Amino acid sequence: MAHDGAADFLQKLRAFHAHGATQDRLSLAGKPGTSALSGWFLGPMGENRDLFRELVGMALDANCDAREAYGKQFGDPLYVTAARKALPGYAHTTDALRDNLREMLHDLHGSIPLSSYRNQSHMYWDVTLPGMVGYFAAMLYNQNNVAAEASPVTTLLEIEVGRDLCAMLGYDTPTEAEIHAGAIAPWGHITCDGSVANGESMWAARNLKLLPIALAAAIKGMPEMAAGRMLTVPCPTGGRAHLLDLDTWSLLNLRVDDVIALSPRLQSECGLDAKTIEAALNTHSVQALGLAEFQRRFLAADAPHLPVVITPATAHYSWPKSAALLGLGFSHVWKVPVDLDGRMSLVELRRMLDQCLREKRPVMEVVAVMGTTEESAVDPLADIVAMREEYRQMGLEFVLHVDGAWGGYFNSINRVPCGADPDGPVFQPDEAEAGMEHTPAMLMSDYVTRHYAALPHTDSQTVDPHKGGFIPYPAGALCYRNGAMRDLVAFTAPVVFHGGVDPTVGVYGIEGSKPGAAAAGVYLSHAIIRPDRSGYGKLLGKCIFNSKRLYAGLVSIGYGKGAPAESIRVVPFQRMPVEKAGGTAAELRAQLDFLHDEIVPRENDDLVAYLADNQDALQVFRDLGSDQNIITYAVNFRTAEGWNSDIGLMNELTNAIYRRLSISDFNGGTVPEKPMFVTASSFEVADYGQDFVDAFAARAGVGPTHGTGIQFLVSTTQDPWVTATAKGNYLPYVVDAFKRTALDCAAVLVREHGFTPFDGVA
Ligand SMILES: Cc1ncc(COP(=O)(O)O)c(C=O)c1O
Repeated sequence: MAHDGAADFLQKLRAFHAHGATQDRLSLAGKPGTSALSGWFLGPMGENRDLFRELVGMALDANCDAREAYGKQFGDPLYVTAARKALPGYAHTTDALRDNLREMLHDLHGSIPLSSYRNQSHMYWDVTLPGMVGYFAAMLYNQNNVAAEASPVTTLLEIEVGRDLCAMLGYDTPTEAEIHAGAIAPWGHITCDGSVANGESMWAARNLKLLPIALAAAIKGMPEMAAGRMLTVPCPTGGRAHLLDLDTWSLLNLRVDDVIALSPRLQSECGLDAKTIEAALNTHSVQALGLAEFQRRFLAADAPHLPVVITPATAHYSWPKSAALLGLGFSHVWKVPVDLDGRMSLVELRRMLDQCLREKRPVMEVVAVMGTTEESAVDPLADIVAMREEYRQMGLEFVLHVDGAWGGYFNSINRVPCGADPDGPVFQPDEAEAGMEHTPAMLMSDYVTRHYAALPHTDSQTVDPHKGGFIPYPAGALCYRNGAMRDLVAFTAPVVFHGGVDPTVGVYGIEGSKPGAAAAGVYLSHAIIRPDRSGYGKLLGKCIFNSKRLYAGLVSIGYGKGAPAESIRVVPFQRMPVEKAGGTAAELRAQLDFLHDEIVPRENDDLVAYLADNQDALQVFRDLGSDQNIITYAVNFRTAEGWNSDIGLMNELTNAIYRRLSISDFNGGTVPEKPMFVTASSFEVADYGQDFVDAFAARAGVGPTHGTGIQFLVSTTQDPWVTATAKGNYLPYVVDAFKRTALDCAAVLVREHGFTPFDGVA
């Protein structure tokens, strides 16, 4: 890059880092977005094949044109000349290329048909057209976002995407003038996945928790740092004091923004230079010493207990994994039991925080999961924020992180585009589909909406574009409320450079080389599908609606007035509305009959009209299923003697169905014949606790499990259009496929165990 270009580039980068680029051509905030879902995906049957070919062709042509234009400028010669193409080796190579590709394409037929209506399984569905095209276009340039000079374009795209994600997640994005006046600006970046984003958040939280201890020790012990003795800080329980006068426990409980400000203030207020602070950190920080040595030197006497990270029992395994990697050990991830809806118990959280306060045990991070992996349950974040305030008053401080790997994009549903009505109906009509049977986008429940409103009060959030953003892998992300927190995990740019302009996004976080193409995929997708109610909010709102319809279809198998009794029944983890209200068995049966007779058979428009006229039915429908769009269920069976009460046999049936509705091996490239796809997992006593597992067992009619886990099936509905296909609502076909498979598996199990089959008379 020529010198002027480099200066220009750095200036642009500076503008992006300073969040002052809103008028810039690359600004996503200024993009109007689009509205027709039918143009956002390739289509379940490849309906947009021509459009996709055109877009990929545009990307390829543009890349080849750029190669040619650059070469021609300098009169560079060709290499792949007509003469070379005429050599036999060339033909051999290109033929081999075609043959091998053909073979691989054939093998790929054996994959899960991800865009099918029948794929109701993983957090894994079709990816957006702009996501794929953006990735492909940038991949041709193979930019490496580890360093800006290896990615002069996609680094900017990553910064812009980071800003758009921060805004989506509710963080304030101040103007440049406001930042100059001292406003805190958020910052986000793309990671390879949610696990790495969670790990980075824990890393940053650990470094933040221990930074005041390290700096205080350095000021005390290093003559060059002596000027720092005059530094004062706000105390955890009020007032100000000199940093050096604080005891260990107080140093461990300073506020996040105050800790982040320490190094810059040592420079601006105490006159220390960056190099001196860097040298101090190189000999005193946990980064340099490691947790064991840091603990031994600075904490053992006054705060002997290792810090903990507190997560709900439902937390993804990347949390214990990260604790293991950081040398904390996964036993220091404390799991808060969850309630019968899979949400963190506030009573239990309080019990743990009390214990930490009593034992003077530092709390590094409390994690709320907004959309759990297996249940899409939303933790009561607003209440956790309020609880943080209470414990703050008692001198206990922690980083509050949201794991929104799955659920972060759902905040789009709460974001209303400029000029639109924020109080629209629960079922948002889709104007782009006016005049045809369509799927309405549903708002989230009042409970979920209330807790999403607390997102701005968190310190950091994980969000995965490659999950709720329908973007090709690999694209996770981590967003910080206070962007300067990234400096705690900048390995080559030390913490003391806070506030400066960094030449790259690649110095932050865990990864080294990383694809600029991932950022480009997210960028183009966000340009077309805005992360508000007009775009991603609409897409995910439709998925929520469809998930409720799938739930209604599955749980009401075998119910309905006059319907023949079936030998299986679906037992949802997500309780029926009447169960939540403490209703009787007869009331439950009546509600299941109602779902079967009044909800399941209706087409979408008819259903929405019916619910508009029946407020009780509307409430029931809103309460169906999970907090978002993942439903979790086991299947039990009956014989001539009655319903099975053996946990082992119920697990056997659920597993048999899973094996029949999934593929885990290479099938030689044959297009799968499975009539539907689901995935599976289990509620283990070690993770969820015996009471939780027994409560689910009791609802399924099986006895206490005595330590045995319960297997269950999981269906993530990421399909926005399964209830409004060219044939209308297609879910009854999918549910029927499930029912046939389950009945068949139950019949096999009954036969194999020598039971007498159910005779059809309940
Ligand atoms: C809530 C949650 N957090 C973190 C992760 C990890 O994300 P990844 O698989 O992208 O590493 C997942 C994955 O399912 C998840 O559901």
